Amino acid sequence: MSLALSAGSLGGVSTTTATSDAGARTGRLRTGFRSLLDAAVTPLSVDDLLDHFAPLRTGAAAGLQGRIVSVHKETADAATLVIKPGRDWAGHIPGQYVRVGIDVDGIRLWRTYSLTHGPRRDGNISITVKAIPGGAVSQHLVREARAGQMVQLAQAEGDFVLTPPVAGRRQKLLLVTAGSGITPVIGMLRNLYSRNEADARAAYDIVLVHSAMKRDEVIFGAELRAHAEAGRLRLVERHTDTDGLLTTADLEAEVPDLAERTAYACGPAGLLDTLEAFYDDRRLTLHTERFRPTVVDLDAEGGTLTFAGASATTVETDGSVPILDAAESAGVLMPSGCRMGICMGCVLPMKSGAVRDLRTGELTVAVPGETHPDGVKIQTCISAAAGDCTLDH
Ligand SMILES: Cc1cc2nc3c(=O)[nH]c(=O)nc-3n(C[C@H](O)[C@H](O)[C@H](O)COP(=O)(O)OP(=O)(O)OC[C@H]3O[C@@H](n4cnc5c(N)ncnc54)[C@H](O)[C@@H]3O)c2cc1C
Ligand code: FES
Repeated sequence: MSLALSAGSLGGVSTTTATSDAGARTGRLRTGFRSLLDAAVTPLSVDDLLDHFAPLRTGAAAGLQGRIVSVHKETADAATLVIKPGRDWAGHIPGQYVRVGIDVDGIRLWRTYSLTHGPRRDGNISITVKAIPGGAVSQHLVREARAGQMVQLAQAEGDFVLTPPVAGRRQKLLLVTAGSGITPVIGMLRNLYSRNEADARAAYDIVLVHSAMKRDEVIFGAELRAHAEAGRLRLVERHTDTDGLLTTADLEAEVPDLAERTAYACGPAGLLDTLEAFYDDRRLTLHTERFRPTVVDLDAEGGTLTFAGASATTVETDGSVPILDAAESAGVLMPSGCRMGICMGCVLPMKSGAVRDLRTGELTVAVPGETHPDGVKIQTCISAAAGDCTLDH
């Protein structure tokens, strides 16, 4: 037994050596060939060319990208973009979001959008964007994005997803949305009802309370009403121009069994703040997705922001806005992502100074000689200057 084993392992070693010699030769040939190709296309590189002709390939040097396949209007101010993601797209769970990088006036800006489908047979993903007045990216995506345009993508993230149903038990759900807050929820609904409708009906009993300013501003209005007519969910549709803003008393009246329902909410900060307080009071759980951070009332101080790295500039700020916004308004190209404190895409080292977390009021201070010599990392999207600050950027 031991002899057989030792002979077997010897054989294995010699085979591996032969294979690794051949592998090394192939590797050297490949590297040589690659250098020749790179020399032939100088000043570009082969990666540049491949990125140009096959940007969606696995391992693209430019990172994960997507090609806009179609853009269609949902309402006067909202549009859905269907995007073919690169082969490195790792998939998503309905309710999650994706960070999208797009060049606007020659500057790459990143914003976050909920995915409005479950995984699709054609492998494409979709986002639905509502144009915000003065919004740099949302206006561009809704009014100017065209099929064929490339966008940068990050992998899907987020935990605003349905908990899987327990076998044999029908889960009661309450979904409360307003405006563009319907986007993660339509992704959940489409995913549920595009697979096995009978299973979805058996697994979930859904009430959706959705508000928009007017009937023709309801994003996915026809689709939601069709779900309701088909008995897949109970839809409570409110138009705030005539019905007023949804109150918690309205919600209790519309959904008397609210306490028995697993609740998800997505919409403007005011609605989410009200719902969170209501659910906290009743010691009930509410899952929320926020598109913007809640900002606490502050005695704004502000100061001079000094960008001491390659940006080499100073910006005056009154401390009422995030450093990210103040810097971008002054033309500084900043790293960013979700713009609400979740992705860490905006983190920069602060060498000296103090910033205040706009969500909590908490102060973070960097003192040369006392705090880390490389600086204290701060999220510029949720931090406002609380005095003069020097950032390495
Ligand atoms: C997890 C997550 C999911 C999101 N999903 C979606 C989605 O599915 N569809 C969608 O349309 N948006 C979504 N957003 C919001 C989106 O990321 C952008 O914030 C939004 O498109 C505005 O970007 P902008 O560049 O046009 O505005 P900016 O140029 O950044 O801001 C312009 C002005 O509008 C204000 N502003 C910024 N964002 C908002 C907002 N959401 N509501 C009101 N005022 C705002 C700013 O304070 C500023 O005054 C999501 C955000 C997050 C964090
Ligand atoms: S941009 Fe995402 S945490 Fe700041």
